[in-house]
Amino acid sequence: MKILFLADVYGPAGVKAVQETLPGWKKKYSPDFTIVNAENSASDGVNATPETLTALREAGAEAFTLGDHFLYRKFKPLASFPIVRPSNLETEDGVGSNVFETVTGKKVLVAVLMGKFAMKPGATNYFQAADDLLRKHGSEKPDAVFIEFHAGATSEEQAMGFYLDGKVSVVVGTHTHVPTADTRILPKGTAFQSDVGMCGALNSVIGATVESSLNFLRKELGEDVGKARPEAPNQGPYVCDAVLIETDGPTKAKSIKRLTSRP
Ligand SMILES: [Fe+2]
Ligand SMILES: [Fe+2]
Repeated sequence: MKILFLADVYGPAGVKAVQETLPGWKKKYSPDFTIVNAENSASDGVNATPETLTALREAGAEAFTLGDHFLYRKFKPLASFPIVRPSNLETEDGVGSNVFETVTGKKVLVAVLMGKFAMKPGATNYFQAADDLLRKHGSEKPDAVFIEFHAGATSEEQAMGFYLDGKVSVVVGTHTHVPTADTRILPKGTAFQSDVGMCGALNSVIGATVESSLNFLRKELGEDVGKARPEAPNQGPYVCDAVLIETDGPTKAKSIKRLTSRP
């Protein structure tokens, strides 16, 4: 089964990047299922809104994932969408894992885990959470298992890759918004990449405008710069980072390929 996954969509530029790129990728690669991380798709980059999820769905997304930004906004308006938030959080809102059915009649388990390093606090033990969700969904017999690890350190992401190697089809990381070049099949067969990157404005600091990011950091460093908050840009050129995985059952994959629309 072919799974296409697009990393963190950041602000209006991110939505436009997906609208510009995803239809062509779907035509070219014919994925069985397309998953998009929408945790920064709102106009201010903070979580998703029904409007951004609708726009992304119209562009070709079939399921959505969220990361730590799930914690910054009310979840209820998003509840009717096919969406998964980090599973290792103690919350009654939404679900952290779900088995989706593809248009081709296949079952895909999609789950998000959240890391601890350089991350908003609240995540519980992610290794135990991974074991728990695999146990919980085992009886549903998914054809493929897609695990997204939303983490701030590539060390955590690589550790999770090896922890789940041979137990799931795919482990890919998100959250840093910068794609890594370690795309490969791990020794026991699981497809892996530490971080997939993002969809948004090319000339940005992980999606936010350069000016607002520099001001934000200057303030953190003690400079008196007044208002300083990362702002989402609304113009191109755009970039879209993704991975295309061909799975080979629920515990391994045949291939994983890094895709990017960088000009
Ligand atoms: Fe993000
Ligand atoms: Fe994040």
